[in-house]
Amino acid sequence: MYINFWYPIARSEEVTADKPLRVELLGLPFVAFRDEDGTPHVLADTCVHRGGSLSAGWVRGGRAICPYHGWEFSGDGMCQHVPSLVGAKIPARAKVDAYPTADKYGIVFAFLGDLPAEERPPLYDIEEYDDPSWKAQLYVINLNAYYERSMENGLDPIHNQFVHPKQGAPMLAEEKQKEPVPMEDIPWGSKFYLKFGGDKDENTDLADEKHGKKLGSAGSWHQGPNQLVTWIDLTEENSFHQYIFEAPVDDKSTRLFFVNMRNWLMEDKHDDRVEQVTLEVVEEDVAILERLHPVRTPETNTKEILVPGDTAVVRYRDYLKDWDARGWRIDFRTMKDKAGDIAFTIPCPARRESGNWVLDPVPLQPGDPAMVGSARRDSEIKAGAA
Ligand code: FES
Ligand SMILES: [Fe+2]
Repeated sequence: MYINFWYPIARSEEVTADKPLRVELLGLPFVAFRDEDGTPHVLADTCVHRGGSLSAGWVRGGRAICPYHGWEFSGDGMCQHVPSLVGAKIPARAKVDAYPTADKYGIVFAFLGDLPAEERPPLYDIEEYDDPSWKAQLYVINLNAYYERSMENGLDPIHNQFVHPKQGAPMLAEEKQKEPVPMEDIPWGSKFYLKFGGDKDENTDLADEKHGKKLGSAGSWHQGPNQLVTWIDLTEENSFHQYIFEAPVDDKSTRLFFVNMRNWLMEDKHDDRVEQVTLEVVEEDVAILERLHPVRTPETNTKEILVPGDTAVVRYRDYLKDWDARGWRIDFRTMKDKAGDIAFTIPCPARRESGNWVLDPVPLQPGDPAMVGSARRDSEIKAGAA
């Protein structure tokens, strides 16, 4: 789990101007609410007076109010009012971490990290989201599995044949399975796009609805550690483009915000059917993911046997190593160890501008800037030599 990426917090309609919402993410508590303009705010859910949970209080006039002694915090995390100090100065340290937010695709996102705007890895841009020839559905799915395992499942073109009979068990040609999956690097990630064969596709074989020349192509990519894209292009005119924003709740559970886009079956009457068949496929993956052993990806690739079909998984792990080298990986074991004694939070961008913070920044594993890019280069050399 990493700081310095965008994470989905909640469905947009769950974040309101009259009730604070508690959200657990990266093993830490956050509070989400809106101000009077409707702008969403996400703050650390720890009152710096004596540790009250802001999300157990109220929102009034765009401020989160602690239920313990009524301290009021505005969306920028600054304490604006201390009822017991009327007329006196508010202590300078009375501030909690506040994170940049975005309200997109029916989801409130927060950037959980301290990078200034120009250095932040981007929130994924779904180009067709506002295109009237596309339709979106949003599903939120709770998964008892670690998010990296879930991401790797999405980057695995071989499992479909075994895990997804309902999709017609899409299969890569045998000779292609033996070769490394051809990968392309994109900003903050890597992708593949391939042609699949398969049996009759039970879910999507709506003979009357399908148009255009058959393609049977699909591709997946990741941008950052937790944004996953899968395009399923059935014909030249009929596609599902799926965008999954993963919220690691902690080191063993994940919430998936799944934006399912389609450019066919556009009438509302198809919504339930599309949702049902998509979630059936998700359930097939969940059944596998919730029993993986160990729960988290092993620390070295020697603890598994990786084959050419796992190329995209290896590439994903190479990118994770880059973010490790930048010093962005949360030291979850230390954090858990000290959790009952220390109020940790993710450091917010304002910490780069001012000091004097009450909450402790989450412990991070030490990085090594000289190693950024080295895992990716090693994989390229190995692939070239093979
Ligand atoms: S703990 Fe929040 S106001 Fe006292
Ligand atoms: Fe799958």
